[in-house]
Amino acid sequence: MKRDEGGRVAGKVALVTGGAAGLGEAIARLLAREGARVMVTDIDEESGARVAADIGEAARFRRLDVTDEAQWVSVIGDVMAEFGRLDVLVNNAGISEPGNIEDESYDHWKRVMTVNADSVFLGCKHAVRAMKEGGGGSIVNIASALALKAGAMFVAYCASKAAVTILTKSVALHCAENGYNIRCNSVHPGAIETPMFERYLDMAVGDREATRKFFESQHPLGRVGKPDDIAYAVVYLASDESGFVTGEELCVDGGNVIS
Ligand SMILES: NC(=O)c1ccc[n+]([C@@H]2O[C@H](COP(=O)([O-])OP(=O)(O)OC[C@H]3O[C@@H](n4cnc5c(N)ncnc54)[C@H](O)[C@@H]3O)[C@@H](O)[C@H]2O)c1
Repeated sequence: MKRDEGGRVAGKVALVTGGAAGLGEAIARLLAREGARVMVTDIDEESGARVAADIGEAARFRRLDVTDEAQWVSVIGDVMAEFGRLDVLVNNAGISEPGNIEDESYDHWKRVMTVNADSVFLGCKHAVRAMKEGGGGSIVNIASALALKAGAMFVAYCASKAAVTILTKSVALHCAENGYNIRCNSVHPGAIETPMFERYLDMAVGDREATRKFFESQHPLGRVGKPDDIAYAVVYLASDESGFVTGEELCVDGGNVIS
């Protein structure tokens, strides 16, 4: 992959979680194309290593289960050893499985909260320490349109992403008030064509095409999103272009939340 030495995040070092597929892969690739060095992380070691190898010299891969605090400490240590600094953390890894308040089990609720929300707490906590040492940074948390607009079929998912949204603001305020030069923002995708979205089409009762049309109809722009729609937003928040933006909710959802 061709890197742009003068790109929008040139010289920065980024850690991306869930970077083996979907949004995380697109984000890692675009950050690298825009000049960053990237630590791609995931629990899927084979695909993650393939993404990093394909990006080339600018990327490394490490296994990181985002629910495991010891692994966070170890991987951030690896970032410092490999690249000498951490400027950007993208907390992207997440799971989405349907469940309403009547059929959701407590075990599944806890699993979704752990993978989607506890993980972002852990990532922010350990990244802030590393970023402080380097004089600042930018944390981008991937939430969801469903953090801002409830879906009856997604009780745990909505709650986990709402937790990420307000956690983001708390981290942003703490860092601002302490003069750390660390910004923290959330991105709220609508439905985006990734393996996660494909699994929803597979689960659909009835026709896949009808389900896709239903998803499209939920977005006033009349389509579902592409991974790069999200990656461009992340690069903006990771870059110095967004230097006066912190604690913000950036919806990239074709108008879903406002409709
Ligand atoms: N695709 C969408 O429509 C959509 C919409 C709104 C928000 N999101 C959010 O965007 C993020 C990425 O979604 P996606 O569509 O790319 O998902 P995906 O399922 O296509 O890919 C997710 C990646 O995260 C990894 N992962 C899962 N659990 C992990 C863990 N415990 N530790 C580390 N890695 C783990 C998976 O191995 C996979 O590579 C998620 O947080 C998701 O909730 C997606």
